Amino acid sequence: MEDHLKLLFPPEEIHLAVTRLANEIRRDFAGKMPLFIGILKGSFIFLSDLVRASKIPLEIDFIRAISYGSRHVSSGDVRITKDIETDITNRHVILVEDIVDTGLTLNVIVERMKAKNPADLKICALVEKHIRREMPVKIDYLGLSAKDGFLVGYGLDYNEKYRYLPGIYIIEKQV
Ligand code: IMP
Repeated sequence: MEDHLKLLFPPEEIHLAVTRLANEIRRDFAGKMPLFIGILKGSFIFLSDLVRASKIPLEIDFIRAISYGSRHVSSGDVRITKDIETDITNRHVILVEDIVDTGLTLNVIVERMKAKNPADLKICALVEKHIRREMPVKIDYLGLSAKDGFLVGYGLDYNEKYRYLPGIYIIEKQV
């Protein structure tokens, strides 16, 4: 069975959104040496474009969360399989997420980070799909909004496929 991909956000639109977010972050964090924490795996391309566009001194770290259950539906059972290595006490932290769907993953990570007493904890997400939100999430820096549908490309995958695509597509299963 072949996947059918429909273009949703072309590379130019993603580039504009990333540049806007980077400008907002520069305005708010220049001189504060923020720590960007990329949520693996999907955020790796977004994070690398964001840090270059922000043009300010910063540090990076990574955390990996896995949501168990069906690939298309978050189950709510979120586990951290790789933790950060930086002491974030009194640091200005920006969590960088590829896509916020139910909000369950970010809620688990936010609670975990808050317990470590950062000076500041902000959320930057490239895409949000608010229709399936189960937990409220305050996204401080938001790139793009999508309706429902499963998205791939620009780091986002479906069973590890399609991360390399420069644009973001909706995947439509052919039956
Ligand atoms: P949430 O916990 O439901 O908000 O889901 C967040 C995580 O699920 C993201 O970090 C992605 O890894 C994955 N995810 C949710 N929706 C999509 C999608 O449309 N495409 C690819 N991954 C997704």
